[in-house]
Amino acid sequence: MTILVAGGAGYIGSHTCVVLLEAGYDLVVADNLSNSRKETIDRIKKITGKDFVFYKIDLRDVEKVEELFINHHLDGVMHFAGYKAVGESVYKPLDYYYNNLVTTMVLSMACIKHKVNKFIFSSSATVYGNNKVPFVETMDLLPATNPYGESKAMNEKILMDTAKAYPDFSVSILRYFNPIGAHESGLIGELPKGIPNNLMPYITQVAKGKLEKLKIFGNDYPTIDGTGVRDYIHVMDLAEGHVAALEKIRPGIHVYNLGTGQGTSVLQLINTFKEVNGIDIPYEIVGRRAGDIPISYADVSKARKELGWTAKRGLKEMLRDAWNFEKRL
Ligand code: NAD
Ligand code: UD1
Repeated sequence: MTILVAGGAGYIGSHTCVVLLEAGYDLVVADNLSNSRKETIDRIKKITGKDFVFYKIDLRDVEKVEELFINHHLDGVMHFAGYKAVGESVYKPLDYYYNNLVTTMVLSMACIKHKVNKFIFSSSATVYGNNKVPFVETMDLLPATNPYGESKAMNEKILMDTAKAYPDFSVSILRYFNPIGAHESGLIGELPKGIPNNLMPYITQVAKGKLEKLKIFGNDYPTIDGTGVRDYIHVMDLAEGHVAALEKIRPGIHVYNLGTGQGTSVLQLINTFKEVNGIDIPYEIVGRRAGDIPISYADVSKARKELGWTAKRGLKEMLRDAWNFEKRL
């Protein structure tokens, strides 16, 4: 079975390529490398010892995408391509809507035309907004505070309408919680450009001495120690969740949370990082970050029941692997 991995050179896409190749799938990978490097493609091949075709193309380009669908007999598409920096989306809304929506439309139109009926989409827990935890797939979505989050909700709607109109089209929407960690080889991982916005890469860069100290955004939340709580999930578990979703995909549109179901606070994360890697993370408490919610974690029962998938790796493994990747850079 041949899968097109759109955005396969990126953080989550690259780990998913490894798991797909190891599970015996043939791949075609397409990425414009706007937030990734060609080297990652070579490293996926090195880890797995398997080869695949890579297209450096922009997935908004209808003609290039058409050519790709003509050249390969595809069985399914995993769509990871898009922009993901929440803060940047506020001052570049059109870039975000244009990239995040058009890639989905171009890919799904090509799927319909070429009768490629399996489509897996990267959504985000951000669509739940400040709902009551744990977040369940059946909850009403709350408006996002930024264009990035809105683009995820809009993509879900576009795919919902498409699946309704084309009954053979099978769509799985995967709502990721907070992916961290890296492949155990340390060859691929998260490579943010500039100063990281997200907690994990910030911590590993402080550990390395690239950044002086972590700023904790608020310690007055109604959580165990006042700092924000999130559901961190090992990126390899997330990657395995995609293969489970592909294997169980069926007509219609089905939404799944991919998380662990466990909440961890910022201070708990820092303390566990020290315990596992022996490195202190200096920090200071600053004000809350605009748009942040106090607490987010998943109800994971639907993915367990319908996909037969649960996250296997714990927080210690996530923190060990995140550091193992950073220290080799
Ligand atoms: P990433 O930036 O590492 O990967 C995205 C890849 O898509 C990059 O390699 C980039 O070069 C490519 N790309 C972007 N626009 C493209 C285009 N027009 N044509 C071709 N390639 C293009 O991001 P990631 O962390 O791997 O995230 C993958 C997906 O999962 C994204 O849609 C993101 O919004 C979503 N997501 C990520 C997280 C997270 O915390 N990382 C959480 C929830 C959802
Ligand atoms: C962020 C995005 C969200 C996106 C998710 C995964 C925002 C407002 N939200 O969520 O839309 O889906 O990433 O990509 O950016 N923290 C600090 N100091 C830091 C960085 C983070 O204290 O330097 C805290 C945050 O306040 C939060 C936790 O760490 O409590 C996790 O933050 P982060 O990694 O940015 O993820 P999210 O806020 O969940």
